Amino acid sequence: MEVKNICCIGAGYVGGPTMAVIAQKCPHINVTVVDINEKRIAAWNDKDLSKLPVYEPGLDKVVEEARGRNLFFSTAVDEAIDKADMIFISVNTPTKTYGKGKGMAADLKYIELCARQIARVSKSDKIVVEKSTLPVRTASAIKSILDNTGNGSDVKFQILSNPEFLAEGTAVEDLLAPDRVLVGGDTSTEEGKEAMEALVSVYANWVSRDHILTTNVWSSELSKLTANAFLAQRVSSINALSELCEKTGADVNEVARAIGMDSRIGPKFLKSSVGFGGSCFQKDILNLVYIAKTYGLNEVADYWEQVITMNDHQKRRFAHNIISTLFNTVSGKKIAFLGWAFKKDTNDTRESAAIYVADELLSEQSNVAVYDPKVSEEQIYADVDYLNTRSSEENREGITVYEDAYEACKDAHAIAILTEWDEFKTYDWKKLYDQMQKPAFLFDGRGLLNIEELEEIGFVCYKIGSGKE
Ligand code: UDX
Ligand code: ADP
Repeated sequence: MEVKNICCIGAGYVGGPTMAVIAQKCPHINVTVVDINEKRIAAWNDKDLSKLPVYEPGLDKVVEEARGRNLFFSTAVDEAIDKADMIFISVNTPTKTYGKGKGMAADLKYIELCARQIARVSKSDKIVVEKSTLPVRTASAIKSILDNTGNGSDVKFQILSNPEFLAEGTAVEDLLAPDRVLVGGDTSTEEGKEAMEALVSVYANWVSRDHILTTNVWSSELSKLTANAFLAQRVSSINALSELCEKTGADVNEVARAIGMDSRIGPKFLKSSVGFGGSCFQKDILNLVYIAKTYGLNEVADYWEQVITMNDHQKRRFAHNIISTLFNTVSGKKIAFLGWAFKKDTNDTRESAAIYVADELLSEQSNVAVYDPKVSEEQIYADVDYLNTRSSEENREGITVYEDAYEACKDAHAIAILTEWDEFKTYDWKKLYDQMQKPAFLFDGRGLLNIEELEEIGFVCYKIGSGKE
């Protein structure tokens, strides 16, 4: 079966870039990305490519090439579903904030709504592809909804799992040259195998077939959770050691380098930081923990839960270190944050460590001044408001957002690096120092800057995982 029309429901960080690359690489396939959020769709259609709702290096060029040719962004969800032979579900699956599984399980209400909508609208056979990260066995729930809530027409659905492994900030690169593409489906039937081959053929337009793995649906779903859990575990492991390094005079970067050269360990994901963020790591581990608990596997659940416990500790530890270093009080003191995004080269702030560090400092009545090259003021306030620690008015009193890093740091008692944006390395640090309160403190939560040079200028520095000899 040859795919001619693809519809993707959800024009977010996953759906947008993924479909843009599919459209670029498959000019013979029409790709329509739909979303209920009109503002978002309007931004995807904006002539000014700097206004795309997702910032990713290189994405503007891909969109420019394909948009209007075979890539379309629309709010006409029913129409796009009807026309498509393959439908990607790429809606958000946040951690539940209510009821059973609150704070742990993924909230599948958006997925279910999509499935019901697909069932209601479809008049011809469809291949439905799970793109969002989902708990294991979601495919069977989707299948049950599709098979039982149809509109009366004799439509057949095949469900595939095709988890996305792209990392934000390098989305386009990752999509163009993925380590692997994973396609899970019903390997026991001919129809299942055909559907899998249809999706494999889409990717085979630019990914070599030996990088495309096919498995059964459950393995595919679980592999995604496992990959993220392993990556997050590496970050928590090195962060756990960063605290020990600070006490013992070791340097966590030196330790990471030494162990990373062991080919069995490898050098990646060993960068100690103020804590991992992003929409996936925490959510996926909580999901894994929840599934394990559901099956009564308490030791398995506890094991993975420690990765989150360690990450929460790392964020809190960073904030408390600022407070204790600033003579045990930050009340009324201006603390400048350089960076708010959860990593560089993205405007995404979901679960960013900056939010939690700011929250701790605000509770100590600090004035937090934020500069981030890509994150909007509106987003920063929305992030702290979401924690519900204090009123929205109090958050606005406590946090000021700047469009200029030098203004943000002016008269500050301390600067904290929360995101590893490259531009921070190019700043005139002497100038920043001169306009700060003295002693001028610097807390590098990303191991980004050259601490010796900063100390030479006069800064009192703290770098994660670097012990004083
Ligand atoms: C992750 C997975 O990498 C990707 O495969 C999956 O599809 C989605 O989740 P993402 O969250 O976009 O991607 O970014 P990633 O690069 O994995 O970073 C996650 C967090 O870990 C960031 O906050 C990052 O700063 C932090 N991190 C990463 C570290 O603190 N140290 C490291 O060595 C690596
Ligand atoms: P992700 O990082 O997984 O891509 P995002 O939150 O960035 O998550 O994007 C998910 C998108 O899915 C949002 O833009 C949201 O409006 C959209 N969405 C959620 N439910 C539906 C639905 N039923 N129909 C269409 N779009 C939806």
